[in-house]
Amino acid sequence: MATSTTLYGGAQHRRVTILDLRAAKERREKWAMLTSYEQLTASIFDEAGIPVLLVGDSAGNNFLGEENTIPVTVEEMLMLTRAVVRGSQRALVVADLPFGSYETSPEQALATSTRFFKEAGAMAVKLEGAHIATVEKLTSSGIPVMGHLGLTPQSLHQLGGYRVQGRTDGDAILEAALALEKAGAFAIVLELVPAELAERITAALSIPTIGIGAGSACDAQVLVWADMAGMNAKAPKLAKVYRNLRKELMDAAEEFAAEVRTGKFPSEVETFH
Ligand code: KIV
Repeated sequence: MATSTTLYGGAQHRRVTILDLRAAKERREKWAMLTSYEQLTASIFDEAGIPVLLVGDSAGNNFLGEENTIPVTVEEMLMLTRAVVRGSQRALVVADLPFGSYETSPEQALATSTRFFKEAGAMAVKLEGAHIATVEKLTSSGIPVMGHLGLTPQSLHQLGGYRVQGRTDGDAILEAALALEKAGAFAIVLELVPAELAERITAALSIPTIGIGAGSACDAQVLVWADMAGMNAKAPKLAKVYRNLRKELMDAAEEFAAEVRTGKFPSEVETFH
């Protein structure tokens, strides 16, 4: 399959593929991934040229009102993934496999991933940790897999909190990344690891690394959209807040309510006769 010469401004008539991402690494072109959980943000980010949209299980604490990602279910993720696929035209849409839906066996992971492909139109799945046999099973069954190493939020309780990983066991993370690549993963998210470790891993792999709190050497960067757009009252240190949409929406809601109270809305413009 032909790959575009750039992820941005390249072919607009088809979805970005995993081959485009690999080619981007070869020519050292960096790219951005954003999370999305529904069709409005999906269509905005797609139009903005974001090449990969992740329907992250961070939907738990950024969309569904949960404390963390652990309670998120397959049914919830299927619905959100379907909306993101419908809302986008060009981005590669990756669905996160929720906690408990893939760890038991490669067969369980294949059954869950197949649902994301057939029922939601996902083009790839992401799973946390070094489940090597599972990645082999999925990729040999035609399902592209994005890995996720470092801080893996589904293991929050095992890790003892959201803490930087790989300060003392960096080699183990590097080994896991190499094993995921060998098993067929097309990219790996590196979350909350020292920048020096992410740089070593990025240099050792021929597939792209996608950093979040992992320094600037990664091939790509991902942010949770609600953090990046200032929707959350407080964003984590690893996120840059590019706009304050929380304030914009708050102002809009207050203005609307005030205009209703004073009778300014609706005016003649919004009225039918
Ligand atoms: O669920 C998610 O949003 C993620 C990203 C932070 C990588 O896994």
